[in-house]
Amino acid sequence: MNAVGADAAAPAGVTAGVTERPSAAALDYCFGAAGDEATMARNEAMLDRPILVPRVLAGGPADASVTVTGGVIAAPLLVAPMGLQGLLDPRAETVAARAAAEAGLGFCLSAFSSACAADVAATAPGLRWRQVYLTREPRLTRYLVEEAEQLGFEALVVTVDVPVVGRRNRDLANGMDRFAVAPPALVRSEPFRRLMAERGLEDREVLAEIFPNPFTTWADVADVIARTHLPVLLKGIMHPEDARRALDIGAAGVVVSNHGGRQFDRSVSSVEVLPAVVAAVGSGVPVYFDSGIRRPAHVATALALGARAVLLGRPVLTALSGCRAEDVAALLRGFTEELAHIMTLLGARQPGDLTVCTNPAGGCR
Ligand SMILES: Cc1cc2nc3c(=O)[nH]c(=O)nc-3n(C[C@H](O)[C@H](O)[C@H](O)COP(=O)(O)O)c2cc1C
Repeated sequence: MNAVGADAAAPAGVTAGVTERPSAAALDYCFGAAGDEATMARNEAMLDRPILVPRVLAGGPADASVTVTGGVIAAPLLVAPMGLQGLLDPRAETVAARAAAEAGLGFCLSAFSSACAADVAATAPGLRWRQVYLTREPRLTRYLVEEAEQLGFEALVVTVDVPVVGRRNRDLANGMDRFAVAPPALVRSEPFRRLMAERGLEDREVLAEIFPNPFTTWADVADVIARTHLPVLLKGIMHPEDARRALDIGAAGVVVSNHGGRQFDRSVSSVEVLPAVVAAVGSGVPVYFDSGIRRPAHVATALALGARAVLLGRPVLTALSGCRAEDVAALLRGFTEELAHIMTLLGARQPGDLTVCTNPAGGCR
């Protein structure tokens, strides 16, 4: 592992100051993926291909700052929405949200966060997106959207790649019932308590009834877009035609992602489809990217292939799993600094200057 890279399969060991280690089942939940994890491995392997060619004499160092949906961030990096961070650190999402804000980076809060959105908004004044799932209970979707609007989140990220939850072998072997072990903050909300009372069910039973929702359609997502003033990004887009369709229904952009390999095992990797999605949406529409980013050079690769910014997933969880806030801050700072360094070596003054070599005779790709 290099200075700022993070090995997804092997979270940081016990570090000074840790009072309680996350359980083995919790670590498997966070670092595992669907099936025998071939998609996760492919995401990482394909991003590792060396496709960047240094350009020289750019005349100055790089400035990695970039405009993303909702504002300007210091580098094209946001923390990906990842639910139940309380499995790793009792302070849950507030740790990474604060670290992102302090680094001038973005943070996306999961619909199934352990910390409530109000606490995250209060601790982290930086650029914040809210991820939502369209559950089988439209009142809950509306609640999440309205809460994000009221708390000043800058964008909504509607995740569309979970019609069913991926079959994750590690979780199946552990009998991991994540919502029982770590109920998300959503179950403490007023509309959720009302649902429990109406249905006469426990929080876990209500969650199992409403999520996931395989009946969700494009029209349902269009309805969410029509009812909010926030820009909406669709996350989990892998096919260029789906990307075009997202724009047709009013999405402000898309997130190319295969959920870090947690859904369909033996999928194509997300970096393999990125260029086609970028071409399909045309210039000016932001295409964000995640799944497999482990090193700052991987960020440069995704940017060179047309991503506006990337979402950092498991490396953040690796840093969180030591229960030391400074580890997350160091990770984000390290990615930011090393990305600017790499950009300068590649002759890119700004993120948008990064390109891949397109000379067919050169065989760069
Ligand atoms: C433990 C865990 C929980 C996640 N929870 C969510 C979630 O609640 N909503 C969502 O849209 N994506 C979720 N994701 C997917 C991430 O947003 C992101 O797409 C993925 O982690 C990227 O892959 P990588 O971690 O291999 O880089 C989760 C990922 C992990 C590892």
